[in-house]
Amino acid sequence: MTRYKIAWLPGDGVGNDVMDAARIVLDRIDLDAEYIPGDVGWEFWKKEGNPLPERTIDLLRKCDCCLFGAITSKPKDEAQKELAPELQGKGFVYSSPIVRLRQLLNLHTNLRPCKAFPGNPLNYRDDIDIVVFRENTEGLYAGVEFHPVPKNVFDALMVHPKMKKFEKTSLNDLAISTRIFTRKACQNIIRQAFEYAKAHGRKSVTVVEKPNVIRETSGLMIQEAREIAKDYPGIELWEINVDAMCMWLVKNPQEYDVLVASNMFGDIISDLCAQLVGGLGFAASGNIGDDFALFEPTHGSAPKYAGQYKVNPTAMLLSVKLMLDWLGEKEKANRLEQAIATVIKEGRVKTYDLGGNNTTLEVAEEVARKYEG
Ligand code: IPM
Ligand code: MG
Repeated sequence: MTRYKIAWLPGDGVGNDVMDAARIVLDRIDLDAEYIPGDVGWEFWKKEGNPLPERTIDLLRKCDCCLFGAITSKPKDEAQKELAPELQGKGFVYSSPIVRLRQLLNLHTNLRPCKAFPGNPLNYRDDIDIVVFRENTEGLYAGVEFHPVPKNVFDALMVHPKMKKFEKTSLNDLAISTRIFTRKACQNIIRQAFEYAKAHGRKSVTVVEKPNVIRETSGLMIQEAREIAKDYPGIELWEINVDAMCMWLVKNPQEYDVLVASNMFGDIISDLCAQLVGGLGFAASGNIGDDFALFEPTHGSAPKYAGQYKVNPTAMLLSVKLMLDWLGEKEKANRLEQAIATVIKEGRVKTYDLGGNNTTLEVAEEVARKYEG
C-alpha cells in the first residue's frame, strides 16, 4: 500500500503535456504515492454528454487529493453543437467540470501564490510576492442564473424597489445571474487568508471588494473581514475596491502581500497577479477543502499547443509543490520550489515563453535533476 492515493486528471489540451511533466518530477522525488487516472473534459462531454462523469467523482472520493491539468470550456451554443449527434436535443447542458468539482467537493478555498522568481525575464518587477485567496464555491459562480426569467422569480424580485426599472421588460428579454454570499464562506476565506499571513510572517491582508456599489454582498465580506482582523493584531487589514486594486497592482504590486476576494473578483485579480510574475505559465493553484484538495495550474488547455510539449510546465510543477505542502511533505515541497527557482535563475533550459526552445518535458527533467542536487 502506498502512503497516498492521488487522482490523476489531465483533462484537455496541454493538460496532458504538463501532467507528463509533473509525473517526471513526482517519480524522481520519490513520493510514496499511487496515481489513479480519471476521465474529465471535452472528450467526455462530446461522447457522453457529461464532461465530469460520475465514475470520476467516485474516484476522487476514494483519493487523498487530485492533480488536475486543464479544461476546455466553451459557451452554451458551441458546446451544444459539438455534442455527439445521438445526444443532441436530449437535454444535456454543459457545465464547467472544474467549477462543479469545487462545489461538489466543497473546495472552498482557492490558493494562488504569485511570486516573482529571481531571474525570470518575464517578471514585471522582481520584488513581487503576492498570495491570492479566492472564495471558490459561491458568488457569481454559484450558478443560480435565469434566462428567460421564470415568472415566480420575477414576481419575487419585484418586492425590491429597484426592480421597478425592469417592470416592463419581457421575461425573455431579461437575464439574471445572482451573486450569493454566505457569512460562513466569507468568514472562511478571510480566516484562511489571515491564518496564512500569520504562518508566513506576512504584514497585511487586503480584502478586494466593491462595497460602495455592491452593498450587500461586498458589504458582508468587509464586515466579516473587520471582525476577523481583530484576532490578528500584528497583521493590517487593507480594504481596496476591485477596480482600484487593478490599478494599484500595476502601479505598486510590491506593496501587496495576501489578497482575499470573492469568487469572480478573485478570478480576475489572480490573472492580473499571474501576469506580473511571468503569466499563466507560472501561476499555480490549490482548490482546498476541509479534507480534500485539488491542485491545478491556473492556465487553460491552450488547444493549439496540445500534444506539442511546448508550454511551460512551471505552473504545474508549482501546483505539485502546493500539493506536497498540503500533504505535509514540507521538505519535499521546499526542495521542489528551490529546484524550480534554480532552473529559472540559471535560465539555460526554458520553454518558448521565456525565449527558449526546450520542451515541457526537458524543463521537468532539469527540475528533477536540480531536486536531486
Ligand atoms: C480559473 C479559470 C476557471 C474559473 C474557468 C476555467 C472556469 O478561469 O480557474 O481561474 O473561472 O474559475
Ligand atoms: Mg481564471
